[in-house]
Amino acid sequence: MSARTFPPGFLWGSATAAHQVEGNCTRNHWWEWEQEGLRQRPGGYVRDGSVSGIACDYYHRFDDDHRLAAELGHQALRISIEWSRIEPERGRFDEAELDHYRRVCDSMLQRGLVPTVTLHHFTNPIWAQREGGWENPEMASWLARFAAYAVRGLGGRVKLWWTINEPMIAPALGYMFGMHPPCVRDPVRALVVARNTLLAHRAIYRAAREAATHTVEVGPVLAMIHFEPLDPGSAADQALAQSSDRFMNEFFLAGLRDGVVADEPVDALQGSYDVIGVNYYMRVLCEAGRGDVAISGARRAAEPERWVDEMGWEVFPDGLRRCLLRAGRLGKPVYVTENGMATLDDTARTEHLYAHLEKVRGAIDEGADVRGYFYWSLMDNFEWAEGYSRHFGLVAVDRQTLERRPRPTAFVYRDIIRANAI
Ligand code: FCB
Repeated sequence: MSARTFPPGFLWGSATAAHQVEGNCTRNHWWEWEQEGLRQRPGGYVRDGSVSGIACDYYHRFDDDHRLAAELGHQALRISIEWSRIEPERGRFDEAELDHYRRVCDSMLQRGLVPTVTLHHFTNPIWAQREGGWENPEMASWLARFAAYAVRGLGGRVKLWWTINEPMIAPALGYMFGMHPPCVRDPVRALVVARNTLLAHRAIYRAAREAATHTVEVGPVLAMIHFEPLDPGSAADQALAQSSDRFMNEFFLAGLRDGVVADEPVDALQGSYDVIGVNYYMRVLCEAGRGDVAISGARRAAEPERWVDEMGWEVFPDGLRRCLLRAGRLGKPVYVTENGMATLDDTARTEHLYAHLEKVRGAIDEGADVRGYFYWSLMDNFEWAEGYSRHFGLVAVDRQTLERRPRPTAFVYRDIIRANAI
């Protein structure tokens, strides 16, 4: 294998999530929060004044989008299924909505795309949120029941399942920094939530494995961030980088690897993964005393501005290599389940893609068993608390007409996929 070639069978695709692309996910807590925002203040809660609304109308246009993805050389898509559609009221499962997702997966398969599916991607049904959401330990059993229903229902269509997308984002952004609903700022509650997401992951893993009618692989999707002290000589910056890493990265890795939650052993947690998904976007430079910069981080003066994206995230390709090696040490196959750049500068997007794929290739060389790469995202979509003014798509979406227009990077990516090489 030449230094620029990927292993045979390496799986190439892109990723989306239900709430961000489907449109009208009216029964989840994000929708409710967006609507509450409109009632509470002019412009609402979302930074650019938007709400998810019709999103990309993927709920109705999925087949056209799959055709486009196939034309763009994709071999696979990572989507999520919307729990609040399938279980709109506690314990009431809507077979028609499950059937919708059967059609979505069938459409992918017909177009030669491998469907990989996330069971929980940020959104809770309103009923679950009203009962405390992630603070309620029952989330684990609710999600396990939902997972069993979905995995059984989709049957042999899906062989690669993801339990929870970025389980540390709810604790961090929802309960520590108050940026995502329910917008709490309380480290104690954040820790309760972190524990509950880990226990819910374990429950979903077990339920999905038991419900599967075919051979499946199931794993978590971790948001991995590369933390560094802003000033490497500062003990306080170092300590902050370490504690951030321990919470955002190591909390889950240790749970999976050692079966511990905050150092306490928990039954059946160790090894509860067949694969690991890594979402990687950024380096965060930690500056003690700056308070809640959360994931936007501080900046070093000499840093080229072009490598800060529309989110304010600092692009740092080598962090991907390091995170893949770290995830790889858990001894199971790893997928890059998300990686991308929010920008309207497509030259930067292409450079970003190459730079990161080089690092994926490097991680493979160094022994990480990386099996695939999913760009975030197939198309521009509703970027949570930031709204529609962040452009992650290989395909641009006209907000007026919802027309899809592939960006130049989409064709570069198609050629990379064809060659299985950079
Ligand atoms: C990740 C999320 C995904 C998307 C990207 C930009 O944290 O999983 O839904 O919003 O960031």
